[in-house]
Amino acid sequence: MSVVDEIKERLDIVEVIQAYVPLKKAGRNYKGLCPFHTEKTPSFVVFPETGTWHCFGACGTGGDLFTFIMKRENLGFGEALAMLAQRAGVELEPRRSQSPELEKRLDLLREINQAAAVYFHHLLLHSDEAARARAYLEKRGLQPETIDRFQVGYALDQWDALLRYLTGKGYAVADVAEAGLIIEREDRSGYYDRFRGRVIFPIRDPQGRTLGFGARILGEGTPKYLNSPQTPLFDKGSVLFGLDQAKAAIRSTGQAVLVEGYMDVLTAHQHGIQNVVAQMGTALTEAQLALLKRYTRRFVLALDADLAGDQATLRGLEVARQTMDREVVPVPTPQGLIRFEDRLAAEIRIVSLPAGYDPDLLIRESPTRWDQLIAQARPVMDYYFDVLTADLDLSTAKGKAEAVRLLGPLLIEIGDSVQRTHYLQQLARMVQVDERTLWQQIRRVVGKSTGTRTTGPRPTEKPVEEKLVFRLDEHCLSLVLAHPELLAQVNEALQAWEEPPFGTDDLGRPEDQAILNAWRDWLAQGGTPNARGSFYDTLDEPLQQRVDLLFRIREGQPPVPEICRKDEVLDAILQLRVRNLQRQNHELRFLHEEAQASGDREAFRRYGQFNIAITARLRRLQRVINDRSISGRRQQYDRSIRMLSA
Ligand code: UTP
Ligand code: MN
Repeated sequence: MSVVDEIKERLDIVEVIQAYVPLKKAGRNYKGLCPFHTEKTPSFVVFPETGTWHCFGACGTGGDLFTFIMKRENLGFGEALAMLAQRAGVELEPRRSQSPELEKRLDLLREINQAAAVYFHHLLLHSDEAARARAYLEKRGLQPETIDRFQVGYALDQWDALLRYLTGKGYAVADVAEAGLIIEREDRSGYYDRFRGRVIFPIRDPQGRTLGFGARILGEGTPKYLNSPQTPLFDKGSVLFGLDQAKAAIRSTGQAVLVEGYMDVLTAHQHGIQNVVAQMGTALTEAQLALLKRYTRRFVLALDADLAGDQATLRGLEVARQTMDREVVPVPTPQGLIRFEDRLAAEIRIVSLPAGYDPDLLIRESPTRWDQLIAQARPVMDYYFDVLTADLDLSTAKGKAEAVRLLGPLLIEIGDSVQRTHYLQQLARMVQVDERTLWQQIRRVVGKSTGTRTTGPRPTEKPVEEKLVFRLDEHCLSLVLAHPELLAQVNEALQAWEEPPFGTDDLGRPEDQAILNAWRDWLAQGGTPNARGSFYDTLDEPLQQRVDLLFRIREGQPPVPEICRKDEVLDAILQLRVRNLQRQNHELRFLHEEAQASGDREAFRRYGQFNIAITARLRRLQRVINDRSISGRRQQYDRSIRMLSA
């Protein structure tokens, strides 16, 4: 599997896009306002099942996770790859994948953040203004050693203290801004410090390099914590607070305990409980667990009682995610957790703290009690069995059905068949139905309600070796790369049929799209048309690998004689387009039906129009294809095309 596929498999496209666009569930899909043009009614749709998105509004664009990020963040393919890989916890080949320039840039941003950490820490210890902060931290029970170890600091309550300090040290304003430390004034007349009059907690990577900050207000007020914004360095969802301090203890104790807050980590460490890290109030991500997996595969989630304790919140959790309530929940859905366990071959246990306690408070009260609680953490599935059935009356038919409805989707997620059988038996006993019948029922219910995996038992064998056969789009791309003159010829023919030029929409993979774009730019700039030569050198490493692969497959195929090349590519493009349009129509049909069912007349009308346009184009394409096949020029090659597109 390529890194791109791996990343796409690990990240939930809905979750990623939701960080940019509020989405609402609409049937099997998600809808929102298109981020790429201004609109009042939502026509931007995300399709979780295919991992794609499409705007059925004015801009009419679409793509996958990668194209979304590239478009939205205005990134090149390599940068988007780096960002998403980090997020997914997929390791890229070191160095080669990140350009030296990017690496240099990140080094500078880390240096600036580190300089700020030193400055804030110095202020906390020595400035007069910080007396209040020192008193506050003392009141909260932090000892000087803890403050030093975590390099806790204080930001002066001034508009530009840090800005002046850092520019005084020679850093450029633009760089300080990119490091997330200052904010541009609305009238663009200058910048001001992001953190003012707050206690500062530096957030570090496992190597101890400072990536960003969390900043607490002294006493009450909102926001309680202000964090660094998303920067090229800092992505809240892929770091864990305290990991640099905790990693040794996580290794030696063989488990990592996840808590929610900065103070929880500080207090734990101060009491000698050092295998504790915090997810900083965000929902736990797979990237965070993947980061921890380098040190252990055993995780304990210590959740505040109010958030995970009772069933109502747990069910609410699912609902919260589906309706895209922006409220942050500290754990993913139960399904999500089980999936993590499965994919990461990890063991996740959950403990919920007594009502009214967070780890900070509990540990200060009694470190022994903490140890006991952690020792009692329950496996994810056991935990949900308890919590979800706690107030069901299992002697009634209704209670039983409810238990199956709640737990069934979780059972489906368990990849390990021994474990799955174990819990299936447990549920079967609980509702007094035989296992086979129960399993069939679960599969039926889950298949209907979520449209996610319904296969239950999943094949355990490793992914098959990359099959060395072209798909239609790859076939076209590789020919166009190998024969630079082709692109112009093909586009000319397409234009004659009122079809757009061969473009990224025709290609299924983001790498291929990036390669085609680079290739077009290259040709447009009059670059020497030599795919393996200087053009190749302009590509990011993963794209180079992709080009290599395309050529390797190409070499394993029968050569296409020069006189047939253009037709070969054209036929393939026509077929591709027909397929893509058919798929779009299929998606549209669903949306159309949903719009009707929900009485959204505006959407219903718009989808209808789209459907008409697509159908018209399909007809035109079919006509072109028929005309071409009647002419029968190339029958002798049809066989090889069929072979290739199989
Ligand atoms: P809590 O509200 O539980 O804070 O949020 P806390 O860590 O217990 O802090 P104290 O004890 O009141 O000082 C948990 C975590 O959620 C994030 C922070 O990482 C915090 O530690 N958070 C919370 C924010 O990022 N912003 C906020 O406004 C609040
Ligand atoms: Mn707290």
